[in-house]
Amino acid sequence: MFEKKHCRSLIDILDFSPEEIQDLLVTANDIIAHPEAYSECCHGKKLATLFFEPSTRTRLSFEAAMYELGGHVLGFSEAQSSSASKGESVADTARVVSCYADIIAMRHPKEGAALVASMNASVPVINAGDGGHLHPTQTLADLLTIYREKGGFENLNVGLCGDLKFGRTVHSLINALSRYPGLKLWLISPEELKLPSYVKKELLQEKNIHYVQTTDLEGCMPELEILYMTRVQKERFFNEEDYLRLKDSYILTPEKLHNARADLCIMHPLPRVNEISVAIDDDPRACYFKQVLYGKYMRMALILKLLKEAGTL
Ligand code: NCD
Repeated sequence: MFEKKHCRSLIDILDFSPEEIQDLLVTANDIIAHPEAYSECCHGKKLATLFFEPSTRTRLSFEAAMYELGGHVLGFSEAQSSSASKGESVADTARVVSCYADIIAMRHPKEGAALVASMNASVPVINAGDGGHLHPTQTLADLLTIYREKGGFENLNVGLCGDLKFGRTVHSLINALSRYPGLKLWLISPEELKLPSYVKKELLQEKNIHYVQTTDLEGCMPELEILYMTRVQKERFFNEEDYLRLKDSYILTPEKLHNARADLCIMHPLPRVNEISVAIDDDPRACYFKQVLYGKYMRMALILKLLKEAGTL
């Protein structure tokens, strides 16, 4: 008999308090230091990865996280191979999968899909990206990277560059950072790809956060401690012409770093297209591959937290 119970989910990074984020960081650091202590924590538990949109890192990182906790994984990696192609609703899929798995990670092209799933599932749901809206687990990866590189989140000078309109990783990262004092943001994008006004209004203006909107990456470089590059989100464009015109708006090359700080931390959620020249990969300031690894540890910490809160562990 299907029993509907309410479970804690992660849909928006703001669902977790700063204290809870801190606890996840501590757990992730402990997993990094003592991985063997966690290798059987999720013995017999199952994670379902429901990916209605392409993914490499996020899905594999969730799967690797669950395997490293001693658990199992089931799921699908494209909408065509699921019953969505027969017209099944997200709500029904969530109910059905709750009968098979202890926790769900879901990526979907529609904004709000993970929220709908969480309202209908009887197990915790993790938003692994909903359209151009949010991507809280990428933010967990970003936060661990910043924490390990910079030691904390206060008084940071952060540049966000590229597709700030459709880039869900940017929206979630701003949500998270907006809660720490002394934040200064440089929003670097072409006119057409500026941060949506709802994010600006609800997060930056209402919280009185200092921000500069600019098209000039090199002009703000000397100020930045963190530079978060993003890909122009091809799949969210209505016409290809606009994408082709905007896709190479920003390409970070070694020359463009001539006036950057020695302690700059260069981040990117990946996949990279052209935004960061491969010539930067060996620069000690390039943190984007570390970010990938940190994402796995934060997902391990997250799975543990949500399963414990659901009473499954
Ligand atoms: C991001 C995403 O899916 O939003 N990728 C990821 O999960 N690391 C960024 C992107 O696709 O550009």
